[in-house]
Amino acid sequence: MRAIRLRNPAGLDRLELVELPDPGQPGPGEIRVRIHASSLNFHDLGVVIGAMPAADGRIPMSDGAGVVEAIGEGVDEFAVGDAVVSTFFPQWLEGEPRIADFSTTPGDGADGYACEFAVRPATAFTRAPRHYSHAQAATLTTAGLTAWRALICNGGLKAGDSVLVLGTGGVSIFALQFAKAMGATVIATSSSDEKLERVKALGANHVINYRRETDWASRVLDFTGGRGVDHIVEVGGPGTLAQSIQACRIGGHIALIGVLTGGAGPVPTAALMKRQQRLQGLIVGNRQHQNELVRAIEATGITPVIDRSFALKNIADAFRLQQAGGHFGKICLEF
Ligand SMILES: NC(=O)c1ccc[n+]([C@@H]2O[C@H](COP(=O)([O-])OP(=O)(O)OC[C@H]3O[C@@H](n4cnc5c(N)ncnc54)[C@H](OP(=O)(O)O)[C@@H]3O)[C@@H](O)[C@H]2O)c1
Repeated sequence: MRAIRLRNPAGLDRLELVELPDPGQPGPGEIRVRIHASSLNFHDLGVVIGAMPAADGRIPMSDGAGVVEAIGEGVDEFAVGDAVVSTFFPQWLEGEPRIADFSTTPGDGADGYACEFAVRPATAFTRAPRHYSHAQAATLTTAGLTAWRALICNGGLKAGDSVLVLGTGGVSIFALQFAKAMGATVIATSSSDEKLERVKALGANHVINYRRETDWASRVLDFTGGRGVDHIVEVGGPGTLAQSIQACRIGGHIALIGVLTGGAGPVPTAALMKRQQRLQGLIVGNRQHQNELVRAIEATGITPVIDRSFALKNIADAFRLQQAGGHFGKICLEF
């Protein structure tokens, strides 16, 4: 089968298209999936440029979607021909989080889905939403589920709530779509006026160019009559968190998700305390969350925003587009 392998030391020019042995037939409890698509995340970028060291020869990409080709003994959840999508934590099926690293995550601590076939435990996949293309389904594993868990599972979002999303990457656009589908008001930021027009078309009620309006928290307060928003999908990290605390209402919820501005930095803890806010860190979600997400997508009809798709052999070009921040929503691989 064709696959991409990442050689050490890692780098975009160290992604090799190779021919690997076929993974064979599934054993008990396993399924064999013909993978047709993956999608790029900031995490995958970190792996392929070596910011998150992985084993030499690792097959990258956490997200994988395709069709079940064979099922092993004892598998009754799937049938041959089912469309499925991979999970980020193959061993976290339900309940409270108990994993604090990426040692079990495909495309990082384990081989990922930049390959044509995968034989894995059936529980490493869920079914994909009906009528989704494989590329659309592949966007759910990481970005879709993170936005869903942040707002719905952890945030308890309800109609009438207000939500701030930062930037127009994969997680933020999904968060915008889920928030609108749930009847929330959305404020979105971007470095690009053109992208802000596109988020308006997706339903954003208010938009802010964070490059031009560097004091964007004040603009959020203006838009909310001085109250602040109920939820923030915080993908920035240390460079944006202080303003997020300012932009969030007293008693509001900040989902701490991203590291776009770095992995550590000073936090105005007294402001957070005085504003009595809930700062909730999270990494993606479990398999049960993903099944709930698939059901919600089928009920709401939400479809992911895919900027561009690339062939497997052009994976480095796909990451170059992501690195340049030239995308809106998701970038996919289709094969
Ligand atoms: N904890 C988790 O489970 C989890 C899961 C997925 C992702 N993440 C993290 O969430 C972040 C976003 O991931 P992604 O996959 O959605 O990335 P992505 O698709 O590559 O999105 C990047 C976008 O973020 C925006 N951005 C960059 N710097 C910004 C800043 N200082 N303020 C506001 N927006 C900024 C830019 O939007 P504009 O071009 O519009 O300015 C950029 O295009 C990453 O740090 C990633 O590691 C965490």
